Amino acid sequence: MTKLRYSRFLLSGHIFLILSVIWALATADVPAGQRSGCPAKCGDVDIPFPYGVGKECALHDGFNLNCTTVEGVEMPLAGHIQVIKISLANSTATLNTTAISWKCYHPATGTMNSEKGWLNLTNTPYWISEVDNTVIVIGCNTLAYMRSSAYVIGCFSTCEGTALENNTCSGAGCCQADVPKGIQYYEGYFNGNYNNTKNSQDISCSYITVMEKAAFNFKTSYVKSTVFYDTYKGKVPIVLNWQIAESACMDAKNTSSYACVSNHSACVDSTTHKPGYHCKCSDGYEGNPYLAGGCQDIDECQRLVNPCGDGICKNTLGNYSCSCYPGNYMTNGICVPIQKTPSRFQAMPVVGASVGLVVLVIAVACACLIQERRKLRNMKLAYFRQHGGTILFEEMRSQQGADAFKIFSEEELQQATNRFSEKQVIGRGGHGTVYKGLLKSNVEVAVKRCMTIDEQHKKEFGKEMLILAQINHRNVVKLLGCCLEVEVPMLVYEFVPNGTLFDLIHGNHGWRISLATRLGIAHDSAEALSYLHSGASTPILHGDVKSSNILLDDNHKAKVSDFGASILAPTDESQFVTLVQGTCGYLDPEYMQTCQLTDKSDVYSFGVVLLELLTCKKPFNLDALGQEKSLSMMFMSAMKENRLEVILDDGIKDEDNMEILEEIAELAKHCLEMSGENRPSMKEVAEKLDRLRKMMHHTWLQQNPEEMESLLEEPSAMAHSTIVSDQYFSIEKKAVTNLQSGR
Ligand SMILES: *[C@@H]1O[C@H](CO)[C@@H](O)[C@H](O)[C@H]1NC(C)=O
Ligand SMILES: *[C@@H]1O[C@H](CO)[C@@H](O)[C@H](O)[C@H]1NC(C)=O
Ligand SMILES: *[C@@H]1O[C@H](CO)[C@@H](O)[C@H](O)[C@H]1NC(C)=O
Ligand SMILES: *[C@@H]1O[C@H](CO)[C@@H](O)[C@H](O)[C@H]1NC(C)=O
Ligand SMILES: *[C@@H]1O[C@H](CO)[C@@H](O)[C@H](O)[C@H]1NC(C)=O
Ligand SMILES: *[C@@H]1O[C@H](CO)[C@@H](O)[C@H](O)[C@H]1NC(C)=O
Ligand SMILES: *[C@@H]1O[C@H](CO)[C@@H](O)[C@H](O)[C@H]1NC(C)=O
Ligand SMILES: *[C@@H]1O[C@H](CO)[C@@H](O)[C@H](O)[C@H]1NC(C)=O
Ligand SMILES: *[C@@H]1O[C@H](CO)[C@@H](O)[C@H](O)[C@H]1NC(C)=O
Repeated sequence: MTKLRYSRFLLSGHIFLILSVIWALATADVPAGQRSGCPAKCGDVDIPFPYGVGKECALHDGFNLNCTTVEGVEMPLAGHIQVIKISLANSTATLNTTAISWKCYHPATGTMNSEKGWLNLTNTPYWISEVDNTVIVIGCNTLAYMRSSAYVIGCFSTCEGTALENNTCSGAGCCQADVPKGIQYYEGYFNGNYNNTKNSQDISCSYITVMEKAAFNFKTSYVKSTVFYDTYKGKVPIVLNWQIAESACMDAKNTSSYACVSNHSACVDSTTHKPGYHCKCSDGYEGNPYLAGGCQDIDECQRLVNPCGDGICKNTLGNYSCSCYPGNYMTNGICVPIQKTPSRFQAMPVVGASVGLVVLVIAVACACLIQERRKLRNMKLAYFRQHGGTILFEEMRSQQGADAFKIFSEEELQQATNRFSEKQVIGRGGHGTVYKGLLKSNVEVAVKRCMTIDEQHKKEFGKEMLILAQINHRNVVKLLGCCLEVEVPMLVYEFVPNGTLFDLIHGNHGWRISLATRLGIAHDSAEALSYLHSGASTPILHGDVKSSNILLDDNHKAKVSDFGASILAPTDESQFVTLVQGTCGYLDPEYMQTCQLTDKSDVYSFGVVLLELLTCKKPFNLDALGQEKSLSMMFMSAMKENRLEVILDDGIKDEDNMEILEEIAELAKHCLEMSGENRPSMKEVAEKLDRLRKMMHHTWLQQNPEEMESLLEEPSAMAHSTIVSDQYFSIEKKAVTNLQSGR
C-alpha cells in the first residue's frame, strides 16, 4: 500500500519534472512574474509587475492596464491603446496604435480627404524607441514629415524613374527615416506642394507613420488605392521604451520607492535626454527584478547547447563552471577533445592535467587580456583615422592658426567630466549632450558628446574640424579641440557661464530685460553669424540658429554656439530620401521644400530669434490651441493688421521705445520673407542692428544726462538707488565699479 503510494508520488514527480523542462524549452523568455492575487495574463498577453491590471496590482498609474474585451477579444489597454507585448528584459512595450496620417485623392469627385495621425506620450513612462521603430512614408510623389516638439524629420517618396520593388523601402514608392532619440510626441503631416493625384482612375493615397521596423515590409501593392491601410487594418505596432521613474539610478537608489527590489537585480539608467531608470536582473540571473526574490539563478547547464562543450557543466549561483573529461582540454572556456588540437598541444602530457589546466587557464586569461587591450587601442586608432585625425594632425603641425586647437584623448575628457557624470550635464540637444568639464590646466570647458554621425561626415570630420578651429570671433564660442578616438567624435568648447538666451527670455527668473540688453544680444549674434557667413576663410552655415544656441557671458555679451552643428546632423545624399532636420519654429520654409540649406536659412532663423526678443514668446507652441501655433505666423498677421503693440513684450513696450521697436519689427519681417532672395544678408542685419543700438544709447543719454553723470561719479551711491531700474545700466554700472576697484 505504502509502496504503491510512494511510486505514484515518484511518477507524478517525474511528470512534473518533464513538464517543467518542456515549459522551459518552449518559452525562451521567463514567464511573467506578477504579485500574488494579481492576474498575470490578459488575453494572450503576459502582464509582469510593475504592470498590473488595476490600481492595486500596478506599481503606479503609469503601469495600470485596463483588461477589457474589445469586439470579442480580451486585450490589455494602456490608456485607450492596445498593448500587444511587454518585455521586462528590454524594458519595452509594443502598442497597436492608430497613429497613421493619410491623405487620399478620389478622382471621381476630385476631392482630397485626409486624417492626421499622432501619438502623445507626455506624462507617461513611455517614449518611442529609436532603435526598434522607423518613420515610414508611402506614396507616389509624397513629401511627408513627422514633427515632434524639437524635430522635423521627413523623406520623399516617388514612383517615377525607379521600378518599385517588394521588400525595398528606399525612395521608390516608400521611404524611411530614423526616429529621433527620446521623443514622446509626434504628428505626421504632408507637404501640400506634393500631391499624389496622377494615378489615373483609382483612389491614390499617401501615408506617413512611425512603426516597428520588424513589422514593416514594403509591398508594391501598398501604393495602390488603400491597400496599405487595409493590410494593417488601420493600426500599426510601435515599440515604446519605458522607465520606472524620472530620476537617475544614483538618486533613485536612496529612495523608499526604489523599484529594483529583488536580490541580484541592478539599476539601469535610461538612454534618453531626461534622467530615468529601469531594473534588470544581474548577469547569470533572470526573472522579475521588480519583485522580491524575482531574479532567479539561471541554470546554464540546462541549455540546449552545453556551455562547456564536451565537458562537465556544474551550475553555480550566478554562473557555472566546467571541468573536462580525461582526453579533453579546455580552451576559451569549453572542453574539446585533444586530437582536434594543433600539434604543440598534442605533445602536452595528459598527466598532471590539473596543474597544466590551471597554467593554461591563466595563460589564456592573460592572452585574452592583452588581446583586449590591443583591440581597444587598435579600435581607438581606427576611429581616429576614420575621423580624419591623421590629416588633421598633419595640417595642424603645418599651420600656425590652429595653435590653440587640441586633440584630446578620451581619458582626458573622462577625467574632466567626472566620467560624464549626470551632474555635469549642462545641456541636452537634438544632436547630443553637453557636459561641463574642468581640464587639468584648470580651464573650464563644455564637452559636447554626440549620439550619432553618418558615414559621409565621418570621413570629412577632421577636415571640417580644421575649418572650425580657425574661427576666432569674440561673439562665437571658441572650439578648443576635439576627441577623435571614439566612435562618435566629441567636441570641446570654451565654457560660457551665464546660460542661454532661451533661458534668459523664457526662464522664470523675474528680471526685466531691458531693450538695450536685448538689442546688444541681437547685435552680437548677428555679428557672429555675419562673420561665419562671410568673414571666415570658408563660409560656414550655422544651420540651427535659435535662442538656445546663443550663450551669454557674465556681461550679457552673446556668443553663438553649435555652429557647424549641421556637420554632425545626419543627411542622406541619396536621390530620393531627403532628411530635413532642424528646430521647430525656426525652420526656413524654403529649406523645408528645397532641402537646400543656404545662408538665408540662417537669416530666417535669426528673424525668429528677433521675434523672441521682441515678444518673449516661444517660437513654436505645440500646446496652443487654434491655428496660430508659430510665432512667425502670429507676428506676420499682427504686422499685416497693424497691431504690433499687441504682441510686444510688456517689459519693453513704452512710448519712448516705440520708434526703435518698430524698426526692429520691420527688420524681423524682412528676415522672415518667404523667399530667401528677398531676405537681407546677415551683414546687412548686423549693420542695421548696430545703427539701432547706437541710436538707442544716444536717446537715453539725452533724456537722462544727470543720471549718467552721477552714475559715473558715484558708483557706490548708485548701487542702492532705485532710479536705475534698467538692467542695461546696472550692467554699465557694474563695469564702472569694476573699473574703479581696479579689477
Ligand atoms: C476600460 O476600458 C473600457 C473600454 O474602453 C472602458 O469602458 C472602461 O471604463 C475602462 N475601465 C477602466 C477601469 O478604466
Ligand atoms: C529584446 O530585444 C532583442 C533585440 O532587439 C530582441 O531580439 C528580443 O526579441 C527582445 N525580447 C523581447 C522579449 O521582446
Ligand atoms: C510583390 O509581391 C506581390 C505578392 O506579395 C506580387 O503580386 C507582386 O507582383 C510583387 N511585385 C513585384 C514587383 O515583384
Ligand atoms: C494638393 O491638394 C491640396 C488639397 O486638395 C490643394 O490645396 C493643393 O493646392 C494641391 N497642391 C498641388 C501642388 O496640386
Ligand atoms: C492591431 O490592431 C488591428 C486592428 O484592430 C488588428 O487587426 C491586429 O490583429 C492587432 N495586432 C495585434 C498584434 O493584436
Ligand atoms: C540618502 O538619503 C539620506 C536621507 O534622505 C541622506 O542622509 C544620505 O546622505 C543619502 N545618501 C546618499 C548616498 O545620497
Ligand atoms: C562566470 O565565470 C567565468 C569564469 O569562471 C567568468 O569569466 C565570467 O565572467 C563569469 N560570469 C558571471 C556572470 O559572473
Ligand atoms: C536577499 O539578500 C539578503 C541579504 O543579502 C538576505 O538576507 C535575504 O534572505 C535575501 N533574500 C532572498 C529572497 O534571497
Ligand atoms: C500631450 O499631452 C499632454 C498631457 O496629457 C498635454 O498637456 C499636451 O498638450 C499634449 N500635447 C499635444 C501636442 O497635444
